[in-house]
Amino acid sequence: MMSNATKFEEITNSLISRRAFLKKSFSIGSLALMSTTLGSIAAYSSQSFFNFTKVNCNNNDTVTLPEQYTWNIVSKWGDPMWSDVEEFDQTSCGSHESQLKSVGDNNDGMELFVTSDNKTLLAVNNEYTNHKIIFSNRKSLLPENEEDILKGMYAHGVSIFEIENSNNQWNLVKDSKYNRRITPFTKMEITGPAKGHSLMKTKEDKDGIYAKGTWNNCGSGRTPWGTYLTCEENFNNYFSSSDKNFKSTDELHRYGIRTREIGLNWAKADSRFDLSKEVNEPNKVGYVVEIDPLNPNSTPKKHTALGRFKHENAELVISKDGKIVVYMGDDERGEYLYKYVSNESMNEVKDKGTLLSNGNLYVAKFNDNFTGEWLLLDTQTTGLSSKAEVCIFTRLAASKVGATTMDRPEWIASNPKKNEVCCCLTNNKNRGIKTNKGGDKVDVDKVNPRKNNKYGQIVRWKPRDNNHSSVYFEWDLFVVAGNPNVHDDNNRGSKNIDKENMFNSPDGLKFDKYGRLWIQTDGNYSNSGDFKGMGNNQMLIADTNTGKIKRFMVGPKECEVTGLTFAPDYKTVFVGIQHPGERLGSNFPDNGNNKPRSCIIAIQKKDGSEILT
Ligand code: FEO
Ligand code: CA
Ligand code: CA
Repeated sequence: MMSNATKFEEITNSLISRRAFLKKSFSIGSLALMSTTLGSIAAYSSQSFFNFTKVNCNNNDTVTLPEQYTWNIVSKWGDPMWSDVEEFDQTSCGSHESQLKSVGDNNDGMELFVTSDNKTLLAVNNEYTNHKIIFSNRKSLLPENEEDILKGMYAHGVSIFEIENSNNQWNLVKDSKYNRRITPFTKMEITGPAKGHSLMKTKEDKDGIYAKGTWNNCGSGRTPWGTYLTCEENFNNYFSSSDKNFKSTDELHRYGIRTREIGLNWAKADSRFDLSKEVNEPNKVGYVVEIDPLNPNSTPKKHTALGRFKHENAELVISKDGKIVVYMGDDERGEYLYKYVSNESMNEVKDKGTLLSNGNLYVAKFNDNFTGEWLLLDTQTTGLSSKAEVCIFTRLAASKVGATTMDRPEWIASNPKKNEVCCCLTNNKNRGIKTNKGGDKVDVDKVNPRKNNKYGQIVRWKPRDNNHSSVYFEWDLFVVAGNPNVHDDNNRGSKNIDKENMFNSPDGLKFDKYGRLWIQTDGNYSNSGDFKGMGNNQMLIADTNTGKIKRFMVGPKECEVTGLTFAPDYKTVFVGIQHPGERLGSNFPDNGNNKPRSCIIAIQKKDGSEILT
C-alpha cells in the first residue's frame, strides 16, 4: 500500500494544480506566451477532439474502428520493395536474399516525408523478429545456419519506401528510387563527443569513426530539416561470448549485455557480436541515428551526443531561444528520462545536422512538490573522465547525479499548441521492490506512485518560461491507468479513467498538429485478472485541456499498437500493428493458415474528410 507521503489523490488531483499553474503563467506571462495560448484556444474550438463513436474493448482478431472509419493494409513484413524479389513465402518466410529487399519485421516508430517531386515516403523502424514465426520452417524455431541468421539480421533495421494513394487505398510503390533497406550492416558515421574515442575503436574501425548498422530500432523522431531519427533500444540481446571465461564489466552489466547466447546467433555470422573478440562493439550501438530518407545514398549518422541507453523515441523541439532540444526516454525498469540541448541555435549554423553533435545532456529529477529539474551530465557532475564517456556510459553518468529512476519511460511527445510535454511510463513490476542494474533506489514517489506498477501512467511537464532549454519545470500526472472493473484502490486509476476508456501500459504517444494526444498501448492483452475487460491492445485520443480520454481503435489479437504518422492533408493516419499473433493465436492480417505479420495500416474517414473532423 502507498505511504501517506504519496497519497494517490494528491497526485491525481494535480490536474487541478496544473490549472492554477496555467493561470499563474498568464499573470506573469510575456506577450508571446499570451498569444501562443490564445492561438491554441482558437485552434481547439475549430477542431473536434472527440467527434467519433467510442470503440469498446474487445478480443477480436481484427482492427476495430468507429463506424465512420475504414482501413487498409499499406505494407506487411516481407512485402517485396523491388519487383525482382518474390512475394512473401508462407512456408519459408523468405530467404536472406529476399528479406534484404523486402520490408523488415516488427514495424515500430515511423514518420512520413514528402519529396520535392511530390512523392510520399514512409520511414519505418523494424525492431526485432519473432523467432517462432520467422524461423517456423526450422524444427528448433531458431536460425540453424548462417543464411538463417542473415535472414533474421536483414529483417531488422529500417525500411524506407514510397507509398501512393490510388482509389483511396494506400499501397507500397515497388522500385521507387527512394526505396531503401537499412540493416545491421549499413555503414554509418559516428558524430559527437565519442567519435574517435578509444572505446569506439574496433578491428574493422581502427579510428573509431564509423559504425556498422543499426538494430532493435524502436521509436522515431524527425528534425525540422527533414530527416528521420531512429532510436536503438534493446541492442544488448544480440551479443554473446564464445569464450566462457570472458570477464564481463560493470558497464556491460549495466546495459544488460550478457555472455550467454540467447539463440539469435548473430556472433556466429559476424564476430563483432562476440564480446571475447570485439569488446568495444557494444559501445557503437544504443544511440539515436539520423537518416536522410530523401537521399537513398546518404550515410546515416549515429549521434553520440544524445547519449547511449535503451532509446525509446526522440522528440525534437525548438526552444524559445532557438536551441534544438531532444527529449528521450530510457525504456528499462528504474532507468531515466533525458534531454539534449544543442549549444548553438537553429539560425547560427548552416549544416543543421551538426546541431545534434554539439550540446549537453541532462537527466530529469522529479521532486515530490511537483517541481522538477534537469541535471547536467558532464565530467564535473558525474566524475567520469571525459565527455565521450558520459555519452557512451550515459546510464552510469546519470546514476551519479541524483536523478529520478522512472517506471520505464517510453514515447515522449511535445504539444505543438502549448507548453506541455508528456511521457508514457508504461509499467514497472520492480517499483518499490528491486533496484535497477546500477543499484539506484527505486522507492515509490509521486511521479512513480505505485509499488509493482502494473498499469502505467503518463507524466506531463511544463518547461519554465515556456522554454524547452530551461533546466526547471513543473509537472503532474496526466493520467494514471488502472482497472476500475477490478480495483477500487489506487489500481483503479486516476479520475479520468473509467470503465469506458480503461487501458494498460501506455507506450506510443504523439500529439497531432491540433494538440490532440494519441495514446497507443503495449500491455497485457489476457483480458483476465487485473486486466479483465481491457481486451486487445488499443489506441485512444486525449484532450490534455480537460483530461478526457476516449478509445479510437482496438488492434487484433496479441498485437501491440505502435507507430503513428499522418498524411500531410490529415485525411489519413498511418498506424503500426506490431507482432499480431506473437503467441501464434492470430493469423492477422490474413486468414486461414497464413502467418501472422506485422503491418502498417492506413485509416481514413469513409466520407474522405480530415481524420477527426
Ligand atoms: Fe520498443 Fe520501449 O518499446
Ligand atoms: Ca515502445
Ligand atoms: Ca512497451
